[in-house]
Amino acid sequence: KILILDFGSQYTQLIARRVREIGVYSEVRAFDITEDEIRAYNPNGIILAGGPESVTELDSPRAPQCVFEMGLPVLGICYGMQTMAEQLGGGVEGSQKREFGYAQIRLDGESALFEDIADHIEDESGKRLLDVWMSHGDKVARVPEAFSVIASTESCPIAAMAWEEKRFYGVQFHPEVTHTLQGQRILEHFVLGICQAERWWTPAQIIEDQVARVREQVGDRHVLLGLSGGVDSSVVAALLHRAIGDQLTCVFVDNGLLRKDEGDQVMKTFSSHMGVRVIRVDAEEQFLSRLEDVHDPEAKRKIIGNTFIDVFDAEAAKIEGVEFLAQGTIYPDVIESAAAKTGKAHVIKSHHNVGGLPETMKLQLVEPLRELFKDEVRKLGVELGLPYDMVYRHPFPGPGLGVRILGEVKKEYADILREADAIFIEELHKADWYHKTSQAFAVFLPVKSVGVVGDGRRYEWVIALRAVETIDFMTARWAHLPYELLETVSNRIINELEGVSRVTYDVSSKPPATIEWE
Ligand code: XMP
Repeated sequence: KILILDFGSQYTQLIARRVREIGVYSEVRAFDITEDEIRAYNPNGIILAGGPESVTELDSPRAPQCVFEMGLPVLGICYGMQTMAEQLGGGVEGSQKREFGYAQIRLDGESALFEDIADHIEDESGKRLLDVWMSHGDKVARVPEAFSVIASTESCPIAAMAWEEKRFYGVQFHPEVTHTLQGQRILEHFVLGICQAERWWTPAQIIEDQVARVREQVGDRHVLLGLSGGVDSSVVAALLHRAIGDQLTCVFVDNGLLRKDEGDQVMKTFSSHMGVRVIRVDAEEQFLSRLEDVHDPEAKRKIIGNTFIDVFDAEAAKIEGVEFLAQGTIYPDVIESAAAKTGKAHVIKSHHNVGGLPETMKLQLVEPLRELFKDEVRKLGVELGLPYDMVYRHPFPGPGLGVRILGEVKKEYADILREADAIFIEELHKADWYHKTSQAFAVFLPVKSVGVVGDGRRYEWVIALRAVETIDFMTARWAHLPYELLETVSNRIINELEGVSRVTYDVSSKPPATIEWE
C-alpha cells in the first residue's frame, strides 16, 4: 500500500483515487504524521502531494525528515517535489507568476519513472516528449546532490528529478490529472515498478475484507441502519446483509418527499429480492404537517432533518437489543472532517444528511465504507448484486422534493412534481441523455401562469427543468439538452399533468446559481 501525505492541495484525493484504480490501496494523511504512525501503516512507498503554500516561506509545511530515512521510495508531486528538494539540500525559487495549463516536457536520460513512455519524439534530438499539466508558482532551482534532472521545459528547467538508487523522485507537473496523458502510467511505474506494491485492492477483495471485519466487530449482536435508497446506505445494507444476515435491521423513512415509486423500489430491491429486514415507516403526514406555512428554505431543511431524526429514533426505540448503528460515511467525508480539524480544509461540504445518534441508545458505529471513494462504493454495489440503475442514479438531496418545491410544501405540489420529474427522467433515459448529465430534475414553481385550453383561459402552475454537468458539484454547467428532447418532455408534462400549463428550462450555471433552486 501507498501513503500519501497531504499538504492541502485539492488534488490530493485524486492521487489516492488514481493509486487505488491501479489496484493498490492508499490512504491520505496529514503532512505532520509521526514516524511511528508511518511504521504502523507500513507503506511500500510514500507520495508527497501538492499544496498551496510556498516552500520559500519559513513556516510552510515540511515532510517529516524520517520519510527520507526509512529506505522507502518517495515521489514528490509539485509542492511535494519542492519540499523534497529543499529538505535534501537543493534550492527552490519563489515566483509571483503561476504557470498553469499544458506543457510539453523533454525527458533527459533513463529513469525508472518514465520507462517506455512517450507522447512524441523530438525531431532533432530524438528525445522523448510528454504532454503534461502544470500548475505551480515556485519551482526547484537546484537539485540536491546525487539527484539528476530527468525532465525539463523552457520555463521550468527542472521539471522532474530523480535519485535512482534511493528511489526518490520528484515531478513538477500533475500525473494524477487526466490532462497529463501518460499520468496513470507514470503512477503505475512508481507504485508497481518502483515500490513493488501488490495489486489486491479489487471490489471482490474489499467486500471479503469488510465482511470479515464487520463480523469481527459485531459478533452475534444487532445492527440498525437508516436506509435512504441512496447509493451509500444501499451499499452498506447489501454489504451488512452479506456479513450478518438477519442481525441487520433497516429503517426506511418515507417522508412524502421522495421521487415517484422510490419507496416501493427500495422495498422491492431489499426486502423482496435480497431478503433484507426493512421496516418502512410511512411518515408523509408527519413531515407535511410540520412543513405547513413554512416558506424559508433553511427552516424547511431543518424541519425535515429534525423530523427524520424523531421518526427514526421512535422506530429504533421499538427494536430490541440493537447495539450498533451503521452509517454510509465514505472516505471523502473522513478526509474533509480531518482536514477541517487541522484547519487545512480548502473545500468543506455544507450539507450532510446523517442525523445525530439517539443519545439514549448509546450505539457504536459501523462504517464499512469509511475507506472508500464514491466510484469504489458504486463498484462494490454492482459486485454485491444491486441494480445498476440504483447504483449509478443521480444524487438526490436529503430534504428531497422539499427543496424542489419553492416556498411552502404541500401534498398537491409534491404529487404534481413527482409525476413531472418522472416524465423528465424517463425521457432522458430514452434519449440516452441520463448518464450524460450529472444531475437532472424538475422543480415546482408555485406561481400561476396563463394557458389556453379549448376556449378558456386557465391559470396553472409552472414546472422548471434543471439538468447539469459537473465533476465535483461545486461548479456546474447547464446541460445542453437537444431541443427535441425538451420539446417532448414539455409536451408530455403539459398534456399528462393536470394543473401545469407551462414548462421552462433552467439555463443558469453554478456559480452563481446553485444546482438546486433552494
Ligand atoms: P447546490 O444546490 O448547493 O447542490 O448547488 C450541490 C449538490 O448538493 C445537493 N444538495 C443537498 N444534498 N442535503 C443534501 O443531502 C441538502 O440540503 C442539499 N442541498 C443541495 C444537490 O442536490 C447537489 O447534488
